[in-house]
Amino acid sequence: MKRVIITAGPTQEAIDPVRFITNHSTGKMGYSLAEVAKEKHEVVLISGPVNLKVPTGVELIKVTTADEMFQAVSDEINTADVLIMTAAVADYKPANYSLQKMKKSDGELSIKLERTKDILLEVSKSKKDNQIFIGFAAESENLFENAKGKLIRKKLDYIVANDISRSDIGFGSSENQVTIISNDATQQLPKMSKIRVAQEICKLF
Ligand code: CTP
Repeated sequence: MKRVIITAGPTQEAIDPVRFITNHSTGKMGYSLAEVAKEKHEVVLISGPVNLKVPTGVELIKVTTADEMFQAVSDEINTADVLIMTAAVADYKPANYSLQKMKKSDGELSIKLERTKDILLEVSKSKKDNQIFIGFAAESENLFENAKGKLIRKKLDYIVANDISRSDIGFGSSENQVTIISNDATQQLPKMSKIRVAQEICKLF
């Protein structure tokens, strides 16, 4: 029985009290992983805002922003055997949050964005030898090269890459077609349900 930390869903980065920046992640891949992993392991699900049911027996930590997700992962990582980052973490957040609702005016509006922390990159700095880190890579071009680069840069054991230029899989879909890349092997899986993709990923630990 391992302690498995799974992140899922998007993050939301507030611009003002009514507006935020987010992405199309629905959380299905992460929640499917939690569903499968809990059969054999202790699972902590760190989730951004999604509309999905948390599998029974899974501990849920709700977060909204990339900063909160970073904090939650940092708090849990020391006691974790496996980290699976399916979350679509925002890479940028508004540099200045407006306490008041921003009013429109004529002409253009620019919003200055600043980088959020790369969670995997940060936690990989204190990665222990017996820990397994699995990342996800959503690529629209050069899938293998881009994913392999992330695997090396973020000291991952595996990266699960999928091609987001295909509309029949990925974001929002119940199916996915992924390639699991490690340092010494590449396994291209056929198109299958996200639950089956989760079963394949759980065979890795
Ligand atoms: N990730 C993370 N922290 C971030 C952004 C991404 O931990 N701030 C994780 C994701 O959860 C995923 C992996 O890193 O498991 C790859 O994410 P992706 O955004 O595709 O990669 P980036 O390194 O941000 O590269 P790029 O934006 O250049 O595609």
